[in-house]
Amino acid sequence: MAVDVLLVGSGGREHALAWKLAQSQRIGKLYIAPGNGGTRLLGENVPIGVMEFEKLAQFAGEKKISLTVVGPDDAFVGGIVDVFQARGLRIWGPTKAAAQIEGSKAFSKQLMRDSSIPTADFAVFTNHDEAIRYVREHGVPIVVKASGLALGKGVAICRTFDEAEVALKEIMLDRVFKDSGTQVVIEKYLEGQEVSIHAISDGKTYKMFPASQDHKTIGEGDTGKNTGGMGTIAPVPWLHQNALQDIEQRVVQSTLEALRNRGATFAGVLFPGLKMAPEGPMVLEYNARFGDPECQVYMRLLKTDILDVLEACVDGRLSDQSIEWVSGFAVNIVIASGGYPEAYKKGFPIAGIEEAEKISDVVVFHAGTTFDGTLKTSGGRVLGVSAVGATLKEALDRAYEAADKIKFEGKYYRRDIGAKALAQ
Ligand SMILES: Nc1ncnc2c1ncn2[C@@H]1O[C@H](COP(=O)(O)OP(=O)(O)O)[C@@H](O)[C@H]1O
Ligand SMILES: [Mg+2]
Repeated sequence: MAVDVLLVGSGGREHALAWKLAQSQRIGKLYIAPGNGGTRLLGENVPIGVMEFEKLAQFAGEKKISLTVVGPDDAFVGGIVDVFQARGLRIWGPTKAAAQIEGSKAFSKQLMRDSSIPTADFAVFTNHDEAIRYVREHGVPIVVKASGLALGKGVAICRTFDEAEVALKEIMLDRVFKDSGTQVVIEKYLEGQEVSIHAISDGKTYKMFPASQDHKTIGEGDTGKNTGGMGTIAPVPWLHQNALQDIEQRVVQSTLEALRNRGATFAGVLFPGLKMAPEGPMVLEYNARFGDPECQVYMRLLKTDILDVLEACVDGRLSDQSIEWVSGFAVNIVIASGGYPEAYKKGFPIAGIEEAEKISDVVVFHAGTTFDGTLKTSGGRVLGVSAVGATLKEALDRAYEAADKIKFEGKYYRRDIGAKALAQ
């Protein structure tokens, strides 16, 4: 029987999920709430916001949706899964209790300490004077983090004492992240390359995805401010099988077990962000959902029908479900609005997507776009240009050729996605 699906979210991650869901052998109707200028071509966009849980649940009930799939962190952390489950609605992803692993860095750091999961040395503060004293004692560089969700803006890498003072003032006294800054994590600065790990779990067992690597900062050569992510490659060519197995055991297994022991069994995608430090792999943080843009490359690499995978996860049948991946590489180049991640203008017409998608193995996912008769920019990250190839270089060449065809005022993208991995 055809499965009607409600997909919640509006970014590149959700366009990629919609693209893959639309290819399912068993998909019925696909609704995306609220969706974007790209998802409208794959299903029906529904004007309900990601945090409007009651309205979403009502919609799912009325339309007799068989499965709801959620993208964004704030929905999980806010308890969308609990709201749906309380009404007997079938939904994919972690409960509010399990999503704390992302929603509270204080919680996740303590869990890591208790379970001997490798992570930077840290302390948690609610008192500003004590936090200042800790920074004085430990010296710089040091990392200051608002414990709660902060749209990817709550982390300050402080290279001077002044920078740490400013970060602590903003988070703890000026409360720029509101309650997300009630607790502050201060931790040791770590050197090394970053890697994104994804594992899907049904609460009983789990399956690993290939590793991926995002590029966090706005500037080439990993300079400038942090963003939501400017481009991703997968798999990571220099991360070998034994390293990945080590991460699987010491991070993924231990974390799922620790959550289960705390009565917060995790079902969904667990995405630890790692730093490959000289002292070994270290967990920077956990996310309780697909990464974005990581999800965009995963959907390009996934061979198996995604509906089979998500339903097996919801129904606790993951151990019987194989997950197959295309051999070769997938990459994505994020095309952003000029000025992002700071102030930027929107509403500019977008051209060139069709031409970009004529290049073999290229798919353009929308992130910040709207359609009102014309396709226009509506966010900081506007498009994700993805490509697959037999080699990393082939995938990158295709993606960059395609990215050059996209046109809108103020268009910006990094030209060095995957460059370090290629050179290694
Ligand atoms: N201890 C650390 N040492 C060095 N860099 C860090 C450290 N913690 C975080 N970062 C950098 O800051 C980014 C954001 O931190 P993260 O903990 O992932 O928070 P969030 O994604 O919630 O903003 C990381 O991707 C990494 O580049
Ligand atoms: Mg992060």
